[in-house]
Amino acid sequence: MMDFKTARKIIEQELEKYPFDSSPTELYEPVGYIISLGGKRMRPALTLMACSIFSDAVHPSLKPALAFEVFHNFTLLHDDLMDNSGIRRGNETVHVKWNPNTAILSGDVMSILAYKILSESPRDLLPDLLQLFNTTALQVCEGQQWDMNFESRLDVNVDEYLRMIELKTAVLVAASLKSGAMAGGADEPEADLLYEFGRHLGIAFQIRDDYLDVFGDPEVFGKKIGNDILTDKKTFLLIKALELSEGKIRKELLGWLEKKEHDPSKKITAVSEIFSSLELNKISSELASSHYGQALQYLDRVDALAERKAPMAEMAKTLMEREQ
Ligand code: IPE
Ligand code: IPE
Ligand code: MG
Ligand code: MG
Ligand code: MG
Repeated sequence: MMDFKTARKIIEQELEKYPFDSSPTELYEPVGYIISLGGKRMRPALTLMACSIFSDAVHPSLKPALAFEVFHNFTLLHDDLMDNSGIRRGNETVHVKWNPNTAILSGDVMSILAYKILSESPRDLLPDLLQLFNTTALQVCEGQQWDMNFESRLDVNVDEYLRMIELKTAVLVAASLKSGAMAGGADEPEADLLYEFGRHLGIAFQIRDDYLDVFGDPEVFGKKIGNDILTDKKTFLLIKALELSEGKIRKELLGWLEKKEHDPSKKITAVSEIFSSLELNKISSELASSHYGQALQYLDRVDALAERKAPMAEMAKTLMEREQ
């Protein structure tokens, strides 16, 4: 079994081996830039940790782990462009530091690099890994499209939101875990339990991400606070606010959503205050906790010694309490 710190260290060492600085510089420099900014390395760490539940040798899970991290970083380049986000991991986003075209093409390169790295996985695992990776990558794009579609809608309900975040965020976490389990020699039902663990953990993770986008500390979170409010994202907070607000508050909220021209910082302050007045932080953390609890139930069912699963449970707890 392996803890998060050890897994993360291995991932950092492996990523350093990759020469993300080929020619032309304009194409590859942003790749090295986003990878070197770090981040939590949660997905690849989960792959290694899942493998280590079933096997003491984690090397078969290394390539899929790295592939998931590079794929994740690719989605960030495009996501920041689509969300008009200027700061990521405490630094300028690629489309701001360079330009939108760079974010598009360097992002494309990273998605191809992810497949290149995945193709170096142990041969006996490759067909199943590829199938999982392909399905997941398509789902992430579908989730992103729902996220964009929802920006211009006011009638998104909680079920639609949950399906959207399952696709854009949770399936990647789930697949990272399942691929690790497969590399560790787990049989299909066990690997599927880890997938379900990751799916619920990923849903809880995105609910917390939405919360931190409003109430987080920008220094720790590494992103600008209020970006979801500015882009009218149908986060759990906004959906519940639209559902629960009445009278003057509801009118004010709809006013901010319908206004085309507005002062960004005034909109962020006003909408955040509406969220606070409706005690949405509490409702949001209850929903996240419920998915966290369901995640743990799936982990419990995995047929392995409790001590082998302990670092995974610890990691899930850390992610639930995260501020970054
Ligand atoms: C950001 O993911 C995108 C979401 C799914 C919210 P992370 O919060 O895992 O980003 P890094 O890799 O740690 O920077
Ligand atoms: C995360 O959505 C999903 C993907 C990046 C695919 P967000 O838009 O909430 O992620 P952040 O907040 O920009 O990291
Ligand atoms: Mg975003
Ligand atoms: Mg987004
Ligand atoms: Mg977010």
